[in-house]
Amino acid sequence: MGDNGLKNIGVLGAGLMGHGIAQLLAVGGCRVRLFDENPQILGAAFQRMADNLQVFLRLGMITQDQIELALARVTPARDLADLCQGQDLIIEAVSENLEVKRKVFTSLEDLTTPQCILASNTSAISIGKIAQGLARPGRVVGTHFWNPPHVVPCVEVIRAPKTEDAVMDAVFALLRRVGKRPVRVQKDVPGFVGNRMQHALWREAIALVQEGIASAEDVDEVVRYGFGLRLAFLGPLATADLAGLDLAYEVHKDLFPHLDRSTEPSPLLTEKIGKGELGAKSGQGFHKGTPEELRQVVSRRDEVLLKILREIFTEQ
Ligand SMILES: NC(=O)c1ccc[n+]([C@@H]2O[C@H](COP(=O)([O-])OP(=O)(O)OC[C@H]3O[C@@H](n4cnc5c(N)ncnc54)[C@H](O)[C@@H]3O)[C@@H](O)[C@H]2O)c1
Repeated sequence: MGDNGLKNIGVLGAGLMGHGIAQLLAVGGCRVRLFDENPQILGAAFQRMADNLQVFLRLGMITQDQIELALARVTPARDLADLCQGQDLIIEAVSENLEVKRKVFTSLEDLTTPQCILASNTSAISIGKIAQGLARPGRVVGTHFWNPPHVVPCVEVIRAPKTEDAVMDAVFALLRRVGKRPVRVQKDVPGFVGNRMQHALWREAIALVQEGIASAEDVDEVVRYGFGLRLAFLGPLATADLAGLDLAYEVHKDLFPHLDRSTEPSPLLTEKIGKGELGAKSGQGFHKGTPEELRQVVSRRDEVLLKILREIFTEQ
């Protein structure tokens, strides 16, 4: 099955992820209806999409005409029933809470046609658990976009135990068509693929700071100006191939016993949370920063990511 049917898409939740997902689908030519239970967030999503697209315009990656056409393809839904009307796919991006998601999926099952695919953008909740108790769990799939979804190409397409092959294939093909780089995650494991690797890195990074081996600034420098630099071009396994698997084997024999293997969040992280040091949102985490500084970092981050992507995609 191709993705010929997947043209009309509902996006549920218009927050950080939902508005970006709606935007990228609209730029890719889909007709998108967007809904959020909070009318202010739904209203603001349209301005956010327009602002995001200005960055693409500045970098010559889209024209003003294309922006206008894309924005005209997104319409706000009046309610959940309106969101579901005539859709081929619904992508859920509401709050990360199993009970909320289960309730939402039960309503989606009632309000959509049986052919409509139901996807969740959950970061960490099992797709199988979200689908549990539904009459047709075969049409439920995970689509894990990365923030910002309109910039980062990778989307993990997660197969729950009952997800049908045709559903995996249709979602995969749609994501390809709108310019994403989907990958298939064949087992519904915690953290899927990307967050397992990302949090393994964070666990070690926090442990290095906690043990006084390097400062938070220096840990970040080692990644940014060291091995992190090439990760956008060569994945870890391709890097291992270049280094030689025999070398990797020897390093693992000596190094693995010394790596952090905690099964709980680190004492340093727990202490910071106790002190109200929550990161950017409280102005202090591992680094310090005012909300204005943070806003600038985020806007610069998106521009830098787009420039890197433009370079990589031009080469391929
Ligand atoms: N933020 C990230 O970096 C990131 C990355 C990947 C995946 N995710 C996942 O995407 C989902 C959304 O995350 P976010 O960061 O966009 O959160 P967010 O809080 O910015 O947006 C969630 C939106 O859902 C709305 N909402 C909640 N319950 C609803 C309901 N029953 N009906 C309609 N709208 C409802 C809220 O009003 C809110 O605007 C979560 O499952 C999250 O884990 C987040």
